[in-house]
Amino acid sequence: MDRGGARIRKLIALTALFLGVAATPGGAPSAFEQLRWTAPGAELALLSEQPAACLAAGDEPRIRAGRALFGAPTLLGGQAAKAGLSCASCHINGRDNPHFLLAGVSAAPGTADVTNSFFSAARGNRRFDPVVIPDLAMPGKVSRDRETRALEAFIRNLIVEEFGGQEPSPATLDVLATYVRAVRACPGERSVGRRLGDQLAAIDDGVAGAQLMIDRADLQGARLSIASMRHQLGLIAERYSGSGLTRERDGLLAASRELQVIGDSDVGRIIPALGRWKGEFDKRLAKRLRRAEGRSLYDADRLAKTLR
Ligand code: HEC
Repeated sequence: MDRGGARIRKLIALTALFLGVAATPGGAPSAFEQLRWTAPGAELALLSEQPAACLAAGDEPRIRAGRALFGAPTLLGGQAAKAGLSCASCHINGRDNPHFLLAGVSAAPGTADVTNSFFSAARGNRRFDPVVIPDLAMPGKVSRDRETRALEAFIRNLIVEEFGGQEPSPATLDVLATYVRAVRACPGERSVGRRLGDQLAAIDDGVAGAQLMIDRADLQGARLSIASMRHQLGLIAERYSGSGLTRERDGLLAASRELQVIGDSDVGRIIPALGRWKGEFDKRLAKRLRRAEGRSLYDADRLAKTLR
């Protein structure tokens, strides 16, 4: 068994993607999915800060659709998806993650071996050779040229060969590559705090993505976009722990279940149902979450206390 084997089984046992649920008994510290691959001692830094990214102007719906899929664990297959890993786990906001540490995958924090049999039996090269996770805002070894489509080919390989994911549809690859090409550093700003607004924006991205995918007759892409929204609801639920926020957690769980039903429905029903869902979400739950944000673990002081 490769080095990651035992560790990944433990991860999967722990996994409460928002498919099961992230709710914890009242008052208990919540389990943060992202801490499963975070270096000890870096928990507060990872959960309170994130690398800033600015997006190049361009085809906004495609960029947003790509950003949604970039954060969806179900885009990757097998072990990675089960553990809750997405592209964004290693490339936060399309950039890097200096705190990434996963036994069997990383050597030092901020490194990963994406050719490891940990992720894929097909591609595993049986050598442990982690490298620094690159910042996708910087020019790298893969050309971003639109004509050659080397980036699309690279991403396809990552998903299918390295992470054992399903063959991505042309629209899925197209929006992922469009997003990666649009990621930029922000002038004068290295990192920014984490806020409820991050998840709410990602949920908007998911709706934009589902719409775009349905327009392109891509049901698989639409379902992935909806899965990305459910994952974001799970990330919010992690932060609304404690007995005073039961209503918010229950609301998140109900909203996630509704999305599941929408994702499983006939192709012709998805967009109208998603529109209704989003209208309702914005009118009620999103407002309630915003009002309670100061009492949630998006609040830096409360977060620090929980992690102590
Ligand atoms: C487990 C951490 C991890 C995950 C998850 C991950 N990557 Fe990466 N990514 C890396 C590492 C490490 C490299 C450098 C690989 C190398 O140099 O051989 C890399 C390289 C890349 C590059 C090439 C950058 C360059 O040098 O030009 C792109 C583009 C990229 N990743 C996109 C993605 C996308 C899209 C996903 C999701 C489908 C993804 N990554 C998921 C760790 C990760």
